[in-house]
Amino acid sequence: MLATHDLWFRYQDEPTLKGLMLDFSRQAVTGLVGANGCGKSTLFMNLSGLLRPQQGAVLWQGKALDYSKRGLLALRQQVATVFQDPDQQIFYTDIDSDIAFSLRNLGVAEEEIARRVDEALTLVDAQHFRKQPIQYLSHGQKKRVAIAGALVLQARYLLLDEPTAGLDPSGRAQMIDIIKRIVAQGNHVVISSHDIDLIYEVSDAVYVLHRGEVLAAGAPGEVFAQRELIEHAGLSAPWLVKLHAELGLPLCKTEAEFFRRMREKGIQ
Ligand SMILES: Nc1ncnc2c1ncn2[C@@H]1O[C@H](COP(=O)(O)OP(=O)(O)OP(=O)(O)O)[C@@H](O)[C@H]1O
Ligand SMILES: [Mg+2]
Repeated sequence: MLATHDLWFRYQDEPTLKGLMLDFSRQAVTGLVGANGCGKSTLFMNLSGLLRPQQGAVLWQGKALDYSKRGLLALRQQVATVFQDPDQQIFYTDIDSDIAFSLRNLGVAEEEIARRVDEALTLVDAQHFRKQPIQYLSHGQKKRVAIAGALVLQARYLLLDEPTAGLDPSGRAQMIDIIKRIVAQGNHVVISSHDIDLIYEVSDAVYVLHRGEVLAAGAPGEVFAQRELIEHAGLSAPWLVKLHAELGLPLCKTEAEFFRRMREKGIQ
């Protein structure tokens, strides 16, 4: 399991994360939402062991994280992270080497590496720019490479910090498919995004963060229906929740479900 227990983190004097009690093991997909600067990326860096809390702990398999080199290597085989800024995790100039890097580090056989890299590049639709030097890629293309780099690890937990920021609509749809695939394999996803509709659609549970604290937690349909709370957090409800709350239309999880149910009701 991956969780936090009374996690406090500060960069300077003011704490950025304040006593967070989070559990990402209860549901397949946990969404994290909150305004700019509320601490989402700081939390992801704590979860992956890049930053270390001053108080409290990140719990992995029931124990506080082991920050030794060996401990972190073991953690990162099981907990793969796609950071908000793709430049933060791309080290090589060629895509194949970059994505294969972590697997080579783990001593995975070359044939298996080639198979996994190829599969991941197909999943993120990056095959057509695979041979281009990374520094010439667009932001969205780099983002796809960073996502592929995490997917090849086939980790138990995939942490996605703003995975669709800068992605076009097809990239966004592919991300939803990728998340479904990961869940179907029995793994967990933790995802942050300002795309509230995306979070609503893919998450089984959400945490609303506000200035480093949890403002609300629970099922997305229930949490996002709390209008004042959502506004207080600097957010806006997903449009499917608004249609339900404002017009009394059925609460649907996806756009496709909504339009299907509307057609069944005879609304053309
Ligand atoms: N390296 C740093 N040193 C000092 N303060 C930092 C550092 N990184 C982030 N902060 C501060 O910590 C707070 C939380 O930042 P963080 O990046 O975690 O927010 P976020 O929720 O990811 O925001 P966004 O939605 O814009 O990605 C902000 O006030 C930010 O200014
Ligand atoms: Mg962030």
